[in-house]
Order: sequence, then C-alpha cells, then structure tokens
Amino acid sequence: MPLQTAMANPFNFPQQELLRDGHLLSTALERMTESGQVILGRGVAGFEAAFAAWLSPELAAEQVVGVANGTDALELALRGSGVAPGDKVLLPSHTAYATVAALLRLEAVPVFLDLDADGAVLSVRDLGEQLTAVAGVKAVIAVHLYGEACDLPAIAALCERHGVSLIEDCAQACGTTWAGQPVGLWGRFAAFSFYPTKNLAAFGDGGALVVNRKGDVETSRRRRFYGWDEGRQAVQFGVNSRLDELQAWVLLGKLAQLDPRIAQRRQVARWYRERLGNRAWLPGDGDHWRHSYHLYVISLPAEIRQRLLQEAAGPELPLAVHYPLACHQHAYVRQRFGAGRPLPHTEARLQEILSLPLHPYLSEQQIEQVCQRLDPFLPQAL
Ligand SMILES: Cc1ncc(COP(=O)(O)O)c(C=O)c1O
Repeated sequence: MPLQTAMANPFNFPQQELLRDGHLLSTALERMTESGQVILGRGVAGFEAAFAAWLSPELAAEQVVGVANGTDALELALRGSGVAPGDKVLLPSHTAYATVAALLRLEAVPVFLDLDADGAVLSVRDLGEQLTAVAGVKAVIAVHLYGEACDLPAIAALCERHGVSLIEDCAQACGTTWAGQPVGLWGRFAAFSFYPTKNLAAFGDGGALVVNRKGDVETSRRRRFYGWDEGRQAVQFGVNSRLDELQAWVLLGKLAQLDPRIAQRRQVARWYRERLGNRAWLPGDGDHWRHSYHLYVISLPAEIRQRLLQEAAGPELPLAVHYPLACHQHAYVRQRFGAGRPLPHTEARLQEILSLPLHPYLSEQQIEQVCQRLDPFLPQAL
C-alpha cells in the first residue's frame, strides 16, 4: 500500500524524496528496459555528461567518472595521485570517518589537521605548518564539511608549492560555490557522494570522481573497472566500483531539480537566521563562497548543547551531532597511529556543535516549530 504523505516523517529526507521523486525509479526501469543496458550503460554515460556540464561548461563528460560511492571516489583520487603504502596524507580530523577509511585502504598514513578558530574546515595555517614539518606527504584532502567551502585558492597554492596533490572531498558540498563556481574544480581530483541524505541523493549508493587534469582521465576511468582497456585487457591496477545504472537514471532526473532544491536549503537557513539571530553561532556564507547547507550545524556553549540533547531532542526535534568524535579519536585510529598531537580547535568544537533539521522540503512553519522547542534552552544572546 502506498505510504500516505500525512503518515510520513517530515524530517526524514530520504523518505520525503521517495514521496516526491520515487517515480524516477520506474522511469529508470523503463529506460533500462529500452536500452537493454544494466551496467555502465546510457544512464551512467548520460549522468556523467550532465554532471560535468552542471559543474562547469569547461569540463568534458569523461572527466566525471561515476563510481559506487563517495569513499571509492576518494580512494580512486588517492590512487590517481600516486599515494602508496606508508605515504602521508594530510586531512582535517573533523570530517566524516569515510575520508579516513578511504586512505586506510591504501595503507597510507593520516596526518590530522586542526580547524580554524571558527568554521568547520581545515586551518590553512596548520596546513602550511604541517606541509613544512612533515616529510613524505603525497596528498592533501580538503573536506568541504557540511557544505562550507575550504579556502581553495590558499590551499591550492600551498599544495602547488609543496608539490602535493590536492583532493577535494565534496561529499557534503554538492552546490557549494566558490566565486560563483561549484566546488570540485580546484583539486587534481574531487570526490562526490550521492548517499541518500546528500544534496544530490540516489535511492541507494552512488558517487563520482571528478578528474580535473585531462592527462589523468584515461587511467582514472580504467581504475574504476579492473584496470581494463577497451579490449578488456588489464593494463593497470583497477577495482570494481561502477555507478549503478538504475541509480544513474535516478540521479539524472534529480540533477534537473538540484539548483532549486539548493536554493530551498538556503531559504530554510535564512528562516533559521531570522528566527535565531544571535542566540547561537549560526552557519552562513563566506566572503568568496556560498554555503549549500547539506547540514545546518550551529554552535552553542557546551552545557546548553548537552541539555538540548538530553532534554529537548526527540521525534519532533531531531537533533544530532556531526560528529561526536574527531577521526583521530576513533579507537582504531589511535591503536594504529597513536594519540597524535593535540588539535585544540577541533576538540573544543566537538563539545559545541549541534545539527538542526534542514532539508529542502521543510516549511517556514515547521522551522518555527523547531525554534519554539529550542527557545527555552537558548541564551538571550551569545
Ligand atoms: C565528508 C564525506 N566524505 C566521504 C563520504 C563517503 O561517501 P559514501 O558514504 O558515499 O561512501 C561521506 C559520506 O558519508 C562524507 O560525508
């Protein structure tokens, strides 16, 4: 029996997307039946071309490689950068654990960076210092966390100066722009995830590797598919990480709606700002970039954050912490690489961050209800 919209959970973004866009699955089935292609067919090729065009008119279709998920895209970016076992990779510790999981697959060694005093992305100062202090660095992963952009020109200049590959982790930043252009075009490679909660979301797993140097295209495309050439002979190392054909058709349908849906995320962020003003630190655009609000993460004094989580959170106020642990604090990472150096800004932020519900289908009234539940806990002003 079809689920009635009224019975659905308004905060459950994948469910809301299924209610609106579930028909894309039957369209995908029709297209696959017509083409007779179920693996790396017209859907994947069409999506790669359309996503390339959406990112930049300068990007050729073959510079987008549809892969199985965002973690694979990162792994292939690291492999394409020549990262080998024992090489060091610099990355912020405050990221989704997937960023680290990707480099551990290559037996690379993570070197964790601190955050700036405010914001959710790596400190350029710390990056510069670590690039000078640490030997054997092969790549830097700049994570545009929550949809906030890293300082791309400064990071790209440092990577260039030190001869290391820049990889942009855009898993949470589909739609974030730097100087009017989507992020993902500054690194040698960029990785996107189409996990069902992302701004551009499949109804399952999916990802894309963006290859910004033409000279890397052929090897990158082969690397996703056993290292095979056209004649199905393995001519290099490769994995099996194909974007699923069904998901590719779904993503093509959703891509047509992406810009208005990101605009709607920005509208929800404006409602929060109008309503919450200076009662918490709120996310927003930078001087050169626009937020895409994959997550809406505010900061509050630690004790208020704790009370909200314990006393206010519930089905009508879904609150979360992205993320309760920084990557260097995970047991497995500590066991493998030791406690590492202190990262004071990261450790302080972890006590203060709180994710409020945000997706494109929430109404002003629903945001008002969320804010009413927050009101008794928030300070009058920070
Ligand atoms: C910052 C970041 N990097 C990488 C990934 C990995 O993407 P996926 O879950 O598609 O493998 C994610 C998504 O979970 C992410 O949020």
